[in-house]
Amino acid sequence: MPRIRPLLVTLLGLLYSAAAVATEEQPQARSFSLPATRTSERYPAGKRSVTGTAAAPHTSGHILVDITIGSQTLPVVFDTGSSILWVWSNFYNGSLAGDLYYNISASTTWAQLPGLTFNISYFDGSGSSGIVGTDKVTIGGLTVTGATLGAANSGPSTPSTYKAGLIGMERGSMSGNRHFAPATNISNTSTILNSQKTRPNIASSLPSPIFAAYLPMGSGAAQSSIDFGYIDSSKYTGTLSTVPLMSGTARWQFTSTSYSVNGVHHNVSITSGKALIDTGTALLAVYPEIASAFYAGVTGAYQDAGRWVFPCSTTTFPSLTLGVGGVQAPVVRELNWGLWSTLANGTKICEGGIQATSDTYMTFGQVFLASNYVVFNDAASTIQIANIVF
Ligand SMILES: *[C@@H]1O[C@H](CO)[C@@H](O)[C@H](O)[C@H]1NC(C)=O
Ligand SMILES: *[C@@H]1O[C@H](CO)[C@@H](O)[C@H](O)[C@H]1NC(C)=O
Ligand SMILES: *[C@@H]1O[C@H](CO)[C@@H](O)[C@H](O)[C@H]1NC(C)=O
Ligand SMILES: *[C@@H]1O[C@H](CO)[C@@H](O)[C@H](O)[C@H]1NC(C)=O
Ligand SMILES: *[C@@H]1O[C@H](CO)[C@@H](O)[C@H](O)[C@H]1NC(C)=O
Ligand SMILES: *[C@@H]1O[C@H](CO)[C@@H](O)[C@H](O)[C@H]1NC(C)=O
Ligand SMILES: *[C@@H]1O[C@H](CO)[C@@H](O)[C@H](O)[C@H]1NC(C)=O
Repeated sequence: MPRIRPLLVTLLGLLYSAAAVATEEQPQARSFSLPATRTSERYPAGKRSVTGTAAAPHTSGHILVDITIGSQTLPVVFDTGSSILWVWSNFYNGSLAGDLYYNISASTTWAQLPGLTFNISYFDGSGSSGIVGTDKVTIGGLTVTGATLGAANSGPSTPSTYKAGLIGMERGSMSGNRHFAPATNISNTSTILNSQKTRPNIASSLPSPIFAAYLPMGSGAAQSSIDFGYIDSSKYTGTLSTVPLMSGTARWQFTSTSYSVNGVHHNVSITSGKALIDTGTALLAVYPEIASAFYAGVTGAYQDAGRWVFPCSTTTFPSLTLGVGGVQAPVVRELNWGLWSTLANGTKICEGGIQATSDTYMTFGQVFLASNYVVFNDAASTIQIANIVF
C-alpha cells in the first residue's frame, strides 16, 4: 500500500544540518532485532475474522515497529515500498483526541529545518504533509542524532489511534542518499544538501549492511521481527537463495517471469515480468493470469467488484509458487484474508489474500512475506529468500 506514486512526490537526499553533523557520533557496530506486529495483533479488537466483521485495523493491515523520536516512543508503519520517515505532530490542526503523534513541543532535541516542507502521497491515496526537522531517532539498538524527519500537520490522511506515522525502507534508506529523508521542497535545500557527505550511515554501523523481514504473522506464529545487521538461521529452512535486484529503481524489485500452480510450471505472458517486495502492502498482488490460474483451483471462487473471493468454508487451495529471479517461492499461508460479505442465504464470502493487479509489476506484500523469509541487501543489490519458519 504505502508505495509512493512516483510522479506525485519528489524525494531528496538525507538532510543533516551542519550543526547536527558536526556533533555527530557514529553509533557502534551491533546488530539488533526489532519486534514487529500487525495492526490487528497489536489491537485485537480489530482482529480480522472469517466469521464476523473486520474492524479498521485489519483493513489497514500494517506492520508496526516502535521507534523513538527524541524521548517519545511511537509505533510506525515499516514500509519497504517508500523511503521517508514522518510522524503526525502536535501541529496537526484538526483533533488529536486519543491519536498517536509526536509532540514537538515536548522534544528538547528537535530542530526545525527552516523553509523546508514535505508532502508525500501513497499509491492508495493516503499521505501527509507538514514541516521538516531533525531529532534523535532510535531504532532498536541504534541511535542516530540529527536524523531528518517530517512532522505532519495535514492530510489527506488523518492521525490514528493505531499508528503515529511511517518509516520508509526502500533501497537507499539505510546507506544511500535517502536514509530517513523526507520529501522536501527542493527549491530551498541546497545548503543543507551540501552536508550530506558527512551524514551518519546506518548500514556502516551494523556488522552487515542488511535487514531481514521475518513476518510469519498469524495465530500461533512466532514473534515477527525486522532483524538489522544479521541473518537468523533459526527463522528459515533450507538455504537462502540470492536474487539480483533490478537497477535504476529504489524499489526492492526483481524479475518475476514464471509461476507454478499445483506443480505445473508456467511462464507469464507479460514481457519483462517483475515484482517488488513491499511490507507496506497487505495483500499479494499478482498478474491477472496468475490469479486466474490459482482461483481456477478454488471451488466456488469468483470475482466481486474486482476482488477474488470464495466461500469462507473453503479449506483447500492449490499449491502456488511465484518466480523470484531464478527461484520459485511458495505461497502457503494467509490465503484467506477474512470476511468480505454475507450472502442473502447466510453464506459467508471471504476475500482472497492473493489478488490481481493491473500494474506492469507485481507487489509481493505481507501475504507473500508470511511464507518467505527475506534478507534485504542494498549494498550487494540483492535480496535473499528462503522458506519461513512459522
Ligand atoms: C490545516 O492547515 C493547513 C495549512 O495551514 C491548511 O491548508 C488546512 O486547511 C488546515 N486544515 C484544517 C482542517 O484546518
Ligand atoms: C506537548 O508538550 C508540551 C510540553 O510538554 C505540553 O505543554 C503540551 O500540552 C503538549 N501538547 C500536546 C498537544 O500534547
Ligand atoms: C530557506 O532556508 C533558509 C534556512 O536554510 C531560511 O532562512 C529561508 O527563510 C528559507 N527560504 C524560504 C523561501 O523559505
Ligand atoms: C500535497 O500534494 C498534493 C498532490 O500534489 C496536493 O494535492 C496537496 O494540495 C499538497 N498539500 C499541501 C499541504 O501542499
Ligand atoms: C516551495 O518553496 C517555494 C519558495 O520557497 C514556495 O513558493 C512553494 O510554495 C513551496 N512549495 C511547497 C510544496 O511547499
Ligand atoms: C519458459 O521460459 C523458459 C526460459 O525462457 C524456457 O526455457 C521454457 O521453455 C519456457 N516454458 C514454457 C512452458 O514456455
Ligand atoms: C447461497 O447462495 C449462493 C449464491 O446464490 C449459492 O451459490 C449457494 O449455493 C447458496 N448456499 C446455500 C447453502 O444455499
